[in-house]
Amino acid sequence: MSRLDSFINRMTAQRDMLNAIRDRVALPDGPILEIGLGNGRTFSHLRENFPGRRIVVFDRQMLAHKSSVPPEGDLVLGEIAETGKTYIGIGAAFVHADIGTGDPEKDAVTLTWLPQMVVGMLASGGYALSGLPLEMPGLERLPVEAHIDPERYYFYRKA
Ligand SMILES: C[S@@+](CC[C@H](N)C(=O)[O-])C[C@H]1O[C@@H](n2cnc3c(N)ncnc32)[C@H](O)[C@@H]1O
Repeated sequence: MSRLDSFINRMTAQRDMLNAIRDRVALPDGPILEIGLGNGRTFSHLRENFPGRRIVVFDRQMLAHKSSVPPEGDLVLGEIAETGKTYIGIGAAFVHADIGTGDPEKDAVTLTWLPQMVVGMLASGGYALSGLPLEMPGLERLPVEAHIDPERYYFYRKA
């Protein structure tokens, strides 16, 4: 598969899963956590599609497009393995994590802390969507939309 096709598939999967969560999932009360601001595209989509929810956003640096800069109090800069610890117990309704790199060695390091952190951030009955697998007791894996490769995006509910 060309890199262009792979990129388009990733963007489509993100949008379609975020829309499916908006349309088909009863999120509990609580904020949304966006793990990996990047350019701010998915933050922009979350902001438009989940109005009224606080969205707390994490990244090591602020490199988002100027139209997609989170409010100061909801932007957490630094290494998420450290900054995220403060948000364990926040009772998040939904965590979206897009910090996979495609480099198996780097992703393996991320997976030493991310799944546990996401479980701790979520409210009971909260949902997580992640580009990396979050195999962890307490997280039930749910199917992604039928047209999405099940190994491209991972969807979970906290019991
Ligand atoms: C793929 S981008 C996110 C793209 C975003 N979903 C969008 O739509 O623009 C991943 C982002 O996560 C950040 N990131 C990855 N691992 C991180 C870590 N361990 N701590 C802090 N930031 C991290 C990177 O700096 C990068 O901006």
